[in-house]
Amino acid sequence: MKVAFFDSKPYDISSFEKALQGKDITVKFYETKLNADTAGLAKGAECVCAFVNDTLDSETIEKLVDFGIKLIALRCAGYNNVDLDACKGKIPVVRVPAYSPYSVAEHAIAMLMTSIRRIHKAYIRTKDFNFSLNGLTGFDLHGKTVGVVGTGKIGKCFIDICKGFGMNVLCYDKFPLTDEGPNYVSLDEIWEKSDVISFHCPLTDETHHILNESVIEKLKKGVVIINTSRGALIDAEALLEGIKTRKIGAACLDVYEEESDLFFRDVSGHILEDDTLARLISMPNVILTSHQAFLTEEALEAIATTTVNNIVAFFEDGKSENEVCVN
Ligand code: NAI
Repeated sequence: MKVAFFDSKPYDISSFEKALQGKDITVKFYETKLNADTAGLAKGAECVCAFVNDTLDSETIEKLVDFGIKLIALRCAGYNNVDLDACKGKIPVVRVPAYSPYSVAEHAIAMLMTSIRRIHKAYIRTKDFNFSLNGLTGFDLHGKTVGVVGTGKIGKCFIDICKGFGMNVLCYDKFPLTDEGPNYVSLDEIWEKSDVISFHCPLTDETHHILNESVIEKLKKGVVIINTSRGALIDAEALLEGIKTRKIGAACLDVYEEESDLFFRDVSGHILEDDTLARLISMPNVILTSHQAFLTEEALEAIATTTVNNIVAFFEDGKSENEVCVN
């Protein structure tokens, strides 16, 4: 069994090599992302393994089908980068529905704490023996209101942590949980009452630019926005405008709408073409990490184990419990 593994990084290789021990699977690791131009590398394999910024559009899928690829194994939870209609009836897609929701929820909190307590500024100052506190005043989370959009696996972990801080938690979900826990309100109430808003819903047609210019008008002045879900939940230009007008107090972004050509790569020697991103990064109250929220040892181990199990189950039994697109 041969697998063509795209967008591979050293941390992927070590976690997968461990998970592959004793399995009759040969994996060829490619650094390049999967798209219609690179799909040819998968020739001779039976399965491709792809990640969040690989482009599995209809053109790529068609090529993979022509090359005899029998399975697309996503090593992530989200599948918004896959044209499922193009896959239907031709090629099944499996994913890793959950690996460590804690990794993402804790990263969202890490960004929030860093931002509001100005740790990113203090770190640089003390490295330079500058021990001044001027401009580093933060605020307590205790007693503040946090709005959580999406109360699935990650949202729930995030809510638990916020409750530990003594925050008042408001939630919105298109498909609310039936248990007593979350305090569900309308989206408008989230926008109007929250001091902090964190997105934990998937990217769909409905959630595309869920945070846009007209929504930003409704927000509380000084609100902190956290996005660890998918970049396109936020209209980045509207966000930038909201920051410039001081409506938005801070933004903590682990994802960005146009991240696919930049994130996971070192482009420090190049001129950044994306002016919106460059301007956002230049803001003192914007913290950006490059889709790193999942990156813990526990999550990597779980991703590798589940992906390998998905592949084995599919080729041995013809199905896997983690199929997104059934043939
Ligand atoms: P999940 O499927 O457990 O939860 C998603 C929740 O969003 C569900 O409760 C669902 O009902 C809700 N939802 C669906 N449509 C909605 C809408 N229109 N409005 C409001 N809520 C809606 O997913 P999980 O595991 O909690 O992941 C959430 C998102 O986090 C993923 O979709 C993915 O995009 C992102 N993610 C980011 C990672 C990173 O490294 N930054 C890693 C893993 C996931």
